[in-house]
Amino acid sequence: MKVRVDPRLCQGHNRCISVAPDLFDLDEEGFASAIGDGTVPPDRRDLAGLAVDNCPEQAISLDAGS
Ligand code: F3S
Repeated sequence: MKVRVDPRLCQGHNRCISVAPDLFDLDEEGFASAIGDGTVPPDRRDLAGLAVDNCPEQAISLDAGS
């Protein structure tokens, strides 16, 4: 499972970082991106789903493949 942030949608609400700080990183302007290649460890899947649900811009998506 991989997580990604759509940079066109992210508005820097930073809820994703609050929910799952080890899955997301912020750039110098406060916009989020997935750490590394976005791979979500099995024990972080619930948090990744929570991040998706908590982003007010629906900028976060999960890819079930790989
Ligand atoms: Fe951006 Fe949503 Fe996180 S707007 S900073 S991806 S909570």
